[in-house]
Amino acid sequence: MAGIPHDHYEPKTNGQKWLHSRLPIAGILYDTLMIPTPKNLNWMWIWGIVLTFCLALQIVTGIVLAMHYTPHVDMAFASIEHIMRDVNGGHMIRYLHMNGASLFFFAVYLHIFRGLYYGSYKAPREVTWIIGMIIYLLMMATGFMGYVLPWGQMSFWGATVITGLFGAIPGIGESLQTLLLGGPAVDNATLNRFFSLHYLLPFVIAALVGLHIWAFHTTGNNNPTGVEVRRTSKADAAKDTVPFWPYYVIKDLFALALLLAVFFAVVGFMPNYLGHPDNYIQANALATPAHIVPEWYFLPFYAVLRAFTADVWLVQLVEFVTFGIVDAKFFGVVAMFGAIAVMAMAPWLDTSSVRSGRYRPKFKAWFALLVIDFIVLMWVGSQPANELNGWISLIATTYWFAYFLVILPLLGLFEKPLPQPATIEEDFNAHYANPAE
Ligand code: HEM
Repeated sequence: MAGIPHDHYEPKTNGQKWLHSRLPIAGILYDTLMIPTPKNLNWMWIWGIVLTFCLALQIVTGIVLAMHYTPHVDMAFASIEHIMRDVNGGHMIRYLHMNGASLFFFAVYLHIFRGLYYGSYKAPREVTWIIGMIIYLLMMATGFMGYVLPWGQMSFWGATVITGLFGAIPGIGESLQTLLLGGPAVDNATLNRFFSLHYLLPFVIAALVGLHIWAFHTTGNNNPTGVEVRRTSKADAAKDTVPFWPYYVIKDLFALALLLAVFFAVVGFMPNYLGHPDNYIQANALATPAHIVPEWYFLPFYAVLRAFTADVWLVQLVEFVTFGIVDAKFFGVVAMFGAIAVMAMAPWLDTSSVRSGRYRPKFKAWFALLVIDFIVLMWVGSQPANELNGWISLIATTYWFAYFLVILPLLGLFEKPLPQPATIEEDFNAHYANPAE
């Protein structure tokens, strides 16, 4: 099969030449769009575009919401009702933004687990991975602050619980918490700074997405085989790749269209399915809800946070040796951020010389367990705290850490990988060869 030649931007008209010699922006855009992309990418490579769409959707709907929203404790809740009832199309804008956040996190989790399975985090893509992790942390901060803005019961109590965690940090905790809240408790100052930051952070994320894309365009995309595009000659590289436009643009847009059909069905017919009914009750500092639960996308890490109670012997031991400086609450906070930190360290913890999980039989089983573990954590994070759930959280949390800190390093040393295809072209032909050829 003949390779498809990859063009580079050549300014043709006098106008194009004039601009190109002063600001080569058209060249950068053209080369980005035409970038040679491995031709064997499967459906797990659609999530990057879905995420880009989500970011744009959140920014556009968010800006319209901000035109009608009032960040004041006496008016925030009512201003959301005003958006829902009085603003033209307001309910749709709000529901798109609310559920858009869920689609964003759904996509980011699949994008991350794709990376974990196909070893996309491994050299030379560590910088892409780390930028991704920073994006993910900022998404969590943005999502958390956005949830406070409607000033419902869950907004208020969620903010109280989560900001309280910062108070657990020894020494600086109290000042940090005060700084975060703008006072001793969640109040108007908190709502104002959360609104300000909630508006700002998506633009920081957008800039980081630019860097993320720049980073993986520098290394080239990974692909399901984990085998790199041949760089021996231009002709060889062309046999392993197709230009991003039109091939992947069409594929990604098709996937996005299917996803949006489901998304709009949720937005149109069950927009509050993923929300909590208590958030339609205005915030009341004097009435604590029966169960304070965060949004679904925070649940796995919320479960890690709650796993370490004062009854756990490890917590007791650490508390003892640190003379009580590290108590159960602080331990939980460290574990929660630690659970993300170990994932960020994956490029240095995975010792296998084989990149893709496809050729790692033992890894496959442990990885499947990690996916189940993540779902269990998500479920148990939504459940009331009791002894059984405490055990489940603890076991699931232990596996999460064990996967990154013990299993990934050891597997690379002991596992016997399967043979990999020599080239992407070989893998492509094995899957899609035209029998008529
Ligand atoms: C706003 C959020 C994000 C956006 C818009 C985004 C966008 C993209 C895009 C467009 C790609 C190209 C391949 C694909 O479509 O899958 C990509 C690749 C990648 N992303 Fe993200 N990403 C985001 C968040 C993350 C996060 C949270 C991680 C995890 C740490 C991550 C890790 C990676 C890695 C390792 C690759 C390289 C995979 C490859 O080369 O095929 N990304 N990203």
